[in-house]
Amino acid sequence: MQISAYKLTDLIPQGRINPKCQHPDRFHLPATDRAQATEIEVSVLVASFFAGQRPTHILETGTHAGDTTQILCNYNAHATIHSIESNREWHDTLRNALGDHWPNLNLIHGDALKWTPGYGIKFGAAFFDATVEHRAEEYRHFRPHLEPNALVAFHDTSTYHPTGHHVRELVKLGLIEGINIETPRGVFIGRHLG
Ligand SMILES: C[S@@+](CC[C@H](N)C(=O)[O-])C[C@H]1O[C@@H](n2cnc3c(N)ncnc32)[C@H](O)[C@@H]1O
Repeated sequence: MQISAYKLTDLIPQGRINPKCQHPDRFHLPATDRAQATEIEVSVLVASFFAGQRPTHILETGTHAGDTTQILCNYNAHATIHSIESNREWHDTLRNALGDHWPNLNLIHGDALKWTPGYGIKFGAAFFDATVEHRAEEYRHFRPHLEPNALVAFHDTSTYHPTGHHVRELVKLGLIEGINIETPRGVFIGRHLG
């Protein structure tokens, strides 16, 4: 695998946020100014898990600086990656930086709680990573646009983040199933039961 944007020397070890994570120092942020970014190792975990399903369309909410986005593109060359970002500056910066670098990438400027895909597009996998308080809501919004048994992943699902509580509610309601992995912030990986 090639992640050309990352040099080992630029990576910043993630601090301990989730006390249940045994090795927080083994997870890394892509740069000092990207505290909101997903840890590289978590992005790789989600992207390779999705690659196992070989979906045609993948959804990501919360593009931010595009670190997970590019890892998703790299691991899922067969798929179109649809990534939504509400902040115009983040969206434009990445769009300008990438140009046509990833032919399988669809960058969208919009609100993940309102945007819907074009007619006939169903997502075979989705990573919910926009506002930490609203990720379960994002899942509910996109339910009609998920394939049956689509793979779903949620970031920040440790007991110390609101997403963890909201995702456990979705599990109790029988909407999704999966496992929670105790990374520095927690990541849930599973299946949509629609
Ligand atoms: C935690 S960051 C995502 C990190 C990203 N996955 C990465 O690899 O670095 C959350 C991003 O979601 C964006 N965001 C917040 N609310 C949103 C919404 N309603 N729709 C789309 N994007 C949103 C924020 O501007 C921010 O860039």
